[in-house]
Amino acid sequence: MPKIKLNEKETIVKENENPYSAFEKLGVDFNCCDGVCGICKIKVTKGMENINPKTEMEEEFPLNENERLGCQCHRLKGDIEVEYEEW
Ligand code: FES
Repeated sequence: MPKIKLNEKETIVKENENPYSAFEKLGVDFNCCDGVCGICKIKVTKGMENINPKTEMEEEFPLNENERLGCQCHRLKGDIEVEYEEW
C-alpha cells in the first residue's frame, strides 16, 4: 500500500484510494476541495509519477512543475514524499 511522507510523519493509503484523508491527517489544510483556493498546495519531492495526472483545475492554477493541489490528487499507485507550508 502506498505511503505518504510529510516531514517526519507518514501514513498509508490503500492503492488507488483518494488520499484526501491521509493528507489531512498529516496536516494539509483544505478549503474549497475544488482546485480553486490553493490552500492545499503541496510540493512533491518524490513519487510524482505515482499520482494521477494533473487535473484541468491544476493545469489552470499557477503551479511549479513539482507542485500539486492535494485536493486534486485522486489516486496513488506508489509512495510519495511531500512538503507543505501552512498558510
Ligand atoms: S482545497 Fe482549495 S484548491 Fe485544494
